[in-house]
Amino acid sequence: MSIFSQNLIAWQKCHGRNDLPWQVKDPYVRWLSEVMLQQTQVTTVLGYFDRFIKRFPTVESLALAHEDEVMQYWAGLGYYSRARNLHRCAQVIVKQYQGQFPQDRETLETLPGIGRSTAAAIAAFAFDARETILDGNVKRVLARYLAIEGATNQTSVTKILWEKAQALVPEAEMTAYIQGLMDLGALICTRTPHCDRCPVAEHCQAHHQGRELELPTPNPKKSRPQKTRTFFLLWQDDYVWVEKRLQKGVWQGLFSLPEVEGELDEELAEDYVARLGFEVRNAKVLPNLIHDFSHYRLLMNPIAINVKKAPMSDENHLFIEASCRQLVGLPTPIETILSKFFDG
Ligand code: ADE
Repeated sequence: MSIFSQNLIAWQKCHGRNDLPWQVKDPYVRWLSEVMLQQTQVTTVLGYFDRFIKRFPTVESLALAHEDEVMQYWAGLGYYSRARNLHRCAQVIVKQYQGQFPQDRETLETLPGIGRSTAAAIAAFAFDARETILDGNVKRVLARYLAIEGATNQTSVTKILWEKAQALVPEAEMTAYIQGLMDLGALICTRTPHCDRCPVAEHCQAHHQGRELELPTPNPKKSRPQKTRTFFLLWQDDYVWVEKRLQKGVWQGLFSLPEVEGELDEELAEDYVARLGFEVRNAKVLPNLIHDFSHYRLLMNPIAINVKKAPMSDENHLFIEASCRQLVGLPTPIETILSKFFDG
């Protein structure tokens, strides 16, 4: 076994994280937690994981649920395609795999929302498969340990990192090893690393060369396009009008406020919602908000409009009591707009 894996496993057992609620052998629990932990911090996931697993304790319970309820339990975690894929994946596991998770990484990878790294984590944690993960943290660890040059989002560099990572996989103790990789990346080999406490510093190339701050080579900054949208906070007493997003997009399947492209003033906003069937009492522009998605920046212009009359409601277009809005589950920046307006 490589000195890297030996040292990492021994360190993980003493100094790693061993009391996280998803640290069990159950593949359903491992799958759910790994999907939640994609692009999301442990501290954020803990509460969501707890509520989710209480409501959907098995893959069957999740497969049987209505998508709206799955989205409600996900609301606020972001990257909502994860929740839509999670639900679809549960249905595939129940229908095509008799409710049993496949045990090998290749088959897991064919399922909705499961990429190579997530598949490897599930196979290793739940079934002791000799597979490696390679997320952003592990890329940083290996680029330093092996002094691998080049932006780690390049296909050619990623390919080398997968090969090197797979070559370091131990014969046994897969759980401690994979958790060790995660813990090292999250706790020690951070952007500004703590080499004094690192279990593999002795053989780390970057550390020897004094280049731990230079490596990994940074990825070129991608420019973020901007989108400007006006959001209508249509209210009456303690009620607010919400609509389910049916069209494709980041918030598909979630309830949100009606919106339109561009920055409308009060007058244009009144005309616009009048055509939707609302009778307007008055309108007031609220402070702007910026929300960054991974691929674009959203400039949000909320307008509060007090309405006398609304169009016909149905299950996807309706007034809800503002104080009960957590029952629907709204995107985080929409929740921010509503809480400023209704809670002061
Ligand atoms: N990040 C991704 N998977 C994780 C896990 N199982 N434990 C801690 N952090 C993680």
